Amino acid sequence: MIYLAPLQGFTDFVYRKNFAQVFTGVDAYFIPYISIKNGDVPAKYNKEITPENNTQLRVVPQVLVEDGKELETLVARLTDLGYSEINLNMGCPYPMVTKRGKGSGLLPFPAKIEAILSSYFEKWNTPLSVKLRAGLQSENEIQQIIPILNKFPLKEVIFHPRIAQQLYSGSILETRFEMVQKDLQHELVFNGDIFTVSDYENRQKQFPEIKTWMLGRGILMNPFLPEEMKGIEITAETKREKLRDFHRLMFESYSEIMDNEGNALNKMQQFWSYFSFNFPNQPKAFKQIKKSKSMIKYKAEVEKLFYQLYE
Ligand SMILES: Cc1cc2nc3c(=O)[nH]c(=O)nc-3n(C[C@H](O)[C@H](O)[C@H](O)COP(=O)(O)O)c2cc1C
Repeated sequence: MIYLAPLQGFTDFVYRKNFAQVFTGVDAYFIPYISIKNGDVPAKYNKEITPENNTQLRVVPQVLVEDGKELETLVARLTDLGYSEINLNMGCPYPMVTKRGKGSGLLPFPAKIEAILSSYFEKWNTPLSVKLRAGLQSENEIQQIIPILNKFPLKEVIFHPRIAQQLYSGSILETRFEMVQKDLQHELVFNGDIFTVSDYENRQKQFPEIKTWMLGRGILMNPFLPEEMKGIEITAETKREKLRDFHRLMFESYSEIMDNEGNALNKMQQFWSYFSFNFPNQPKAFKQIKKSKSMIKYKAEVEKLFYQLYE
C-alpha cells in the first residue's frame, strides 16, 4: 500500500482532491496536522477537514497535541465529522512546535506519550495510528518509546527514521529502522526519501517485511510515482495530458478559493517548487515561474514549459 504523506502547505484538500481525480496508486491520504488554539479547533481548518472536501476512499486526519485534553477536543470534532481513523503527529521537527511539547517535542518524554495514549484508549474505539521520528535530539529516544507503543492497540506506526534536528535532510537512520522493526509489535510503515522507483526497490530489498510505504516529496515531484511503483505503465503522451489536467485543476481550484489573484499566484508558485521536477530543466522551470509577477506572465510561462514537453 502507498500513503500520501501529510505536508503542511502542499498536500492540502485542493491538492488531495485534484490528485485523486487525475492519478491513481495512492491508497490513503493524510490530512496535514490540525491543532488546538485557545482550547478549541480553529476555524481555519474547516475547509481542510469538512467531509465534502475529503471524498477519497480513505482519508486520515492528523492531530498535533500537547496532552490528552487537546487530543480529546480534536478527536471529538473529527469523529463528529465522520472520520473513522486518526493519526497522531509525534514527528514535526520545527522548534515552534517542539518547544511547546508537541510533535517530536514529545519524544524525550515517554511518560507524556503514555498518558496521552492511555487517555485516548480509555475513551475511544476509533483506530489511532502514530507518525514519529527516532528522537528530538538523539536517535536513542525511540527505544524508550517502543515499549509504550506496544502497550496500546495502535492501528499502525509510521516511522520516519531521522531525528528532529536533521529536519528533512541528512542520512536515513537505517540501523534504527531495523531496531524498531524488531522491537515493535505493530504494523510498521516506512517513510522517508523515496523519490524514484529504484529508491523504492532498494528499500523493499532492505526491509522485505514492510508492506506499506508513505511518500511525500517523491509524489509531489513525480505524481506518477505510486502508479510506477505498482508497475502500471504510462505512455509519455498520457503523462503530458495528465500533468496538464492536474495543473489546470490546481489552477482553477486556487483561483476560485483564494481571496485574490496574488494569493492564488503564490499558491501556484509554491506548487511548482515540486511540480517543476516534471520538466526538463527543473531549476530553470521553477525560476521562470517564481519570477512571474502577474497571472498573465505566469500563464505565458506555463504554456512555454508545457510546450517543452512536446519537443
Ligand atoms: C513542507 C513540509 C510539511 C510537512 N508537514 C507535515 C505535517 O503536517 N505532518 C506530518 O506528519 N509530517 C509533515 N511533514 C513530513 C512529511 O510527512 C514526511 O514525513 C517527510 O517529508 C519525509 O517523507 P518524504 O521523504 O517522502 O517526503 C512535512 C514535510 C515537509 C517538507
